[in-house]
Amino acid sequence: MLLKPDAVQRGLVGEIVRRFEDRGLKLVAMKMLRVSRSLAESYYAEHKGKAFFEPLMAYISSGPVVAMVLEGDGSVALVRTMMGKTNAAEAEPGTIRGDYGLTIGRNVIHGSDGPESAKREIGFFFKPDELHEYRRIDEAWLRE
Ligand code: RTP
Ligand code: MG
Repeated sequence: MLLKPDAVQRGLVGEIVRRFEDRGLKLVAMKMLRVSRSLAESYYAEHKGKAFFEPLMAYISSGPVVAMVLEGDGSVALVRTMMGKTNAAEAEPGTIRGDYGLTIGRNVIHGSDGPESAKREIGFFFKPDELHEYRRIDEAWLRE
């Protein structure tokens, strides 16, 4: 997942990471970087040609982002549930977009929409040796 430039500028990084850590997801990689125009275009290739593509390119490369990889049972779907609807205006309170976002064009966070896209997107930001294998001390208490 990606904490978009608005999350960084608004000082929400710690708060959002805390939610995932508290839920029991394991942080296995994390990096702060500036997304270039060409990386943004590849990353969001599926949206090329849509009306919001240019504003999306400007948004995502407007400041540093924080990319991270979270691991856990059903993590892809869980992260999307915790993010809330794409349009922050419609996102449920209690979700990240529902608590911190107001509009679709500044919706704070990105999460992969499936295991295949997760794999592809992780490759944009991380080398294999940047993904860390370790056990969280509470792992035995997160599942039966
Ligand atoms: P994301 O990829 O960022 O996690 O968001 P998503 O799957 O929930 O939404 P997606 O349909 O993939 O759209 C990607 C991002 O493009 C911007 N967007 N703007 N103005 C608009 O109508 C519009 N639609 C999409 C949002 O930043 C959205 O997260
Ligand atoms: Mg998407």
